[in-house]
Amino acid sequence: MHTVAVIGASGLVGRALVSALEARADWRIVPTARRRTGGRTVALDIRDASAVVSFIDRIRPDAIVIAAAERRPDVCERDPAAARALNVDAVTTIASAARRHGAWVLSISTDYVFDGSAPPYRIDDAPAPLNAYGRSKLEGERALAQATDFGCVLRLPLLFGPVLDWSESAVTSLVPAIVASAAPGAAAAPMDAWATRYPTYTPDVAQAILGMLERHAARQAVCGVAQWSGDEPMTKFDIASRIARVLGIDARLVAQTASLDATPRPRDCHLDSSRLDALGIGRRTPFDVAFAQVLETSPALT
Ligand SMILES: NC(=O)c1ccc[n+]([C@@H]2O[C@H](COP(=O)([O-])OP(=O)(O)OC[C@H]3O[C@@H](n4cnc5c(N)ncnc54)[C@H](OP(=O)(O)O)[C@@H]3O)[C@@H](O)[C@H]2O)c1
Repeated sequence: MHTVAVIGASGLVGRALVSALEARADWRIVPTARRRTGGRTVALDIRDASAVVSFIDRIRPDAIVIAAAERRPDVCERDPAAARALNVDAVTTIASAARRHGAWVLSISTDYVFDGSAPPYRIDDAPAPLNAYGRSKLEGERALAQATDFGCVLRLPLLFGPVLDWSESAVTSLVPAIVASAAPGAAAAPMDAWATRYPTYTPDVAQAILGMLERHAARQAVCGVAQWSGDEPMTKFDIASRIARVLGIDARLVAQTASLDATPRPRDCHLDSSRLDALGIGRRTPFDVAFAQVLETSPALT
């Protein structure tokens, strides 16, 4: 049976992907996570190289999706070595073991490999990351390419989707401040209006990955680098305004036009998705529709 391992299945992307993979009842799906295990999710710390090798030797996957990472820029800035262990070294371990089994590897990367000064970015544009997170993910891309020629990097921008906690995505993390700003007498909530983002819905990302996995299963694997992005440019101020509209509340928001982030971040990393578009892979749910779907399964709003 066609076996797909999803490494980091308990995260924002991993959960959406495992859910989309239910459509393939004819495939064997093996999800893994470090802390949030249970059910059929296998406990695997990808920093433990021998555990990774024995896992891959045991399940003999046809394809592996690496959705495990340290993806918080501030955390990467504080401890780049810890970020590297996950975002680079573990990719080498997984991809090297995959190569020995002839498995195709899809490793997820980020728009933060670019400096954001000259969008849109095509897959072969020169990366120039501005922060430790982007540097570790770029090294991870190179680690994949060095370990196997039967793999693909999939770069993604700012993501949102069904969350277990509002803080889980940089889109939904705006919600508590938006809601609080609508209370009588509350102070206005400052929102970044400097950087342009392309919020992308994780169930749409999962469809794109499913499409790529299906191509691999049909012996037409996409290799090298691919990119996938939503197509609605928005600042966080725009995102917050749209969220307030979907919530039907009168939020008081203030646009901040200068970047106040401690960690340097790119201004506009719009990813050109034409390689996957040309293959007919993926779909784009409008932001308001997607956010309304997120609310249906989200934590309670207080
Ligand atoms: N979120 C975004 O806005 C965004 C944007 C662009 C690109 N990306 C990229 O998309 C990918 C997925 O990100 P995400 O947002 O889904 O991340 P996430 O929600 O933080 O999930 C991270 C996953 O990695 C697992 N993990 C963490 N440390 C591990 C370890 N030592 N061993 C094994 N598994 C470990 C976590 O498992 P446990 O929590 O159960 O331990 C979880 O399943 C990453 O490559 C990220 O760089 C994300």
